[in-house]
Amino acid sequence: SDPDLVARAAAAKAALGDRLFILGHHYQRDEVIQFADVTGDSFKLAKDAAARPQAEYIVFCGVHFMAESADILTAPEQKVILPDLAAGCSMADMAVLGQVETAWERLASLGLADTTVPITYMNSSADIKGFVGRHGGTVCTSSNAERALKWAFERGERVIFLPDQHLGRNTAVLELGLSLDDCVLYDPHKPGGGLTGEQLANAKMILWRGHCSVHGRFTLDSVKEVRERVPGVNVLVHPECRHDVVLAADFVGSTEYIIRTIEAAPAGSKWAIGTELNLVRRLGNAHPDKQIMFLDRTVCYCSTMNRIDLPHLVWALEELVAGRVVNEITVDADTAHHAKAALAQMLALP
Ligand code: 13P
Ligand code: SF4
Repeated sequence: SDPDLVARAAAAKAALGDRLFILGHHYQRDEVIQFADVTGDSFKLAKDAAARPQAEYIVFCGVHFMAESADILTAPEQKVILPDLAAGCSMADMAVLGQVETAWERLASLGLADTTVPITYMNSSADIKGFVGRHGGTVCTSSNAERALKWAFERGERVIFLPDQHLGRNTAVLELGLSLDDCVLYDPHKPGGGLTGEQLANAKMILWRGHCSVHGRFTLDSVKEVRERVPGVNVLVHPECRHDVVLAADFVGSTEYIIRTIEAAPAGSKWAIGTELNLVRRLGNAHPDKQIMFLDRTVCYCSTMNRIDLPHLVWALEELVAGRVVNEITVDADTAHHAKAALAQMLALP
């Protein structure tokens, strides 16, 4: 990366000292990650953000929903900054509050709302987390989805899982032993979600029709192709991948799990990894004794994660040094109150 920008970021960071705390998600660029005080998956970063009460400024190098969660979990006087406001998440955008309310009203009109527990993946807007908190549900991430589902099934007969159908389906089938027939897909663009009342009543998992545009790119053919090309390869994928891809893989887990698995792998082992490319590249560089490759032949970054680049980080930090808070992420008090309940429930999962 540009040495001048590196020096400017370092100088601004030094000038702000303990007033500043920089969080970096594993999918961030190397040029940004080098300045992160902590790195993590979305679960770890949510906990880390909450554990820095002395920091005046939390600069979140990740995407919008993560910065919102950090704002909800930190003290009111702490300011959360997203260096580029265009760093959103296409999956989070697939569940809009009005659509979810419509779905819930349908469940209520069928007499099913009282026995349905809403769960939202961390990758959702604060509005959606607020909705889930209002209705007694929980947030989950890819590292605790199984525990969240078990918790929910102790409280209700079915779950409505937002917005990632793949994490919901993969966890329900592979971790809880439900069948694919126990799952139905609710399409917010179709009247009634495209489901009959009977289908909703009989379902154990109502999956929202959302997905990650990055992990959704891996296909069964990607797995077959790499197994043919690289004999002995281990296929390791994130649970945001499609169900058939996860079934065909050898290992599945969150980004933290993927990192731990590669760290523990023996020298000389071969790994095809189905997750975001910045992380896969970094793992490859950190483990030259292992053969680490991307699960697909086409290069695939998360375009919104990648929007946080060094120029944006330098700009945000230098503005802070000058006493100006730019790109602050704030969640309104009422939404934050309910979203916090759903996040607190996640943090308290057994
Ligand atoms: P985790 O950080 O929970 O592994 O989620 C991956 C992701 O897609 C984040 O946007
Ligand atoms: Fe959203 Fe997928 Fe990018 Fe994560 S990797 S921010 S889920 S689009």
